[in-house]
Amino acid sequence: MQLVIDSANVESIKRLVEYFPIDGVTTNPSIVVKENKPFLPLMKEIRDVIGEEKELFVQVISTSAEDIVEEAKVITESIGGNIIIKVPVTFEGIKAIKRLKKVSIRTLATTVYTPMNAYLAAKAGAEYVAPYVNRIDNLTGDGVKVVAEITKIFTQHNLSCKVLAASFKNTQQIQNVCLAGAHGITAAPELIEAFVNHPSIEANVEQFKQDWISQYGEESILTTIK
Ligand code: G3P
Repeated sequence: MQLVIDSANVESIKRLVEYFPIDGVTTNPSIVVKENKPFLPLMKEIRDVIGEEKELFVQVISTSAEDIVEEAKVITESIGGNIIIKVPVTFEGIKAIKRLKKVSIRTLATTVYTPMNAYLAAKAGAEYVAPYVNRIDNLTGDGVKVVAEITKIFTQHNLSCKVLAASFKNTQQIQNVCLAGAHGITAAPELIEAFVNHPSIEANVEQFKQDWISQYGEESILTTIK
């Protein structure tokens, strides 16, 4: 299951890549503009932090299939490394996904709200689809159920497309899509960090340390066995 950071904040990405088994970084136009930096240098900075192998997902802005394909080519060439182009599942977007597949540019279909959005994108050649779990929930839908249904359709019909679930407000939603069969999740840095936020963990570690010190007077095994 892939664990991807949904952010363009270089410091947060650096921190998470150092501590956690991160597979890649997703961005979108809103995430990029938050950083208030020139686009290409920012993408290159992220590439330097994550290395050439980890997937960097970059979204197109153009809305016609022709322009999406051109943007995708330029993004892929100018950033370098393992790039996946995010394309919204509009009519023109699906047309662009089909064309990009033919020229071997990898795509993720984004702004996915229904299983049929995902089905069309997968059949057009998208390597990933990104259902927007929390945004679906906010429309009084059931984001986790949508993820479960997409994964079921892909499995039943041997579609090799992967579900990278996106748009989360809390870790419970993330846990639920993991159980629903998502192939990966992309989440904001603070949500990924929250995976290890449990007051009992720190309390347990402190108790172990105090027990040890009270017996051996040392704070590590290294000094204890010297
Ligand atoms: O990757 C898609 C995601 O960034 C949308 O998330 O939290 O803005 O709904 P959100």
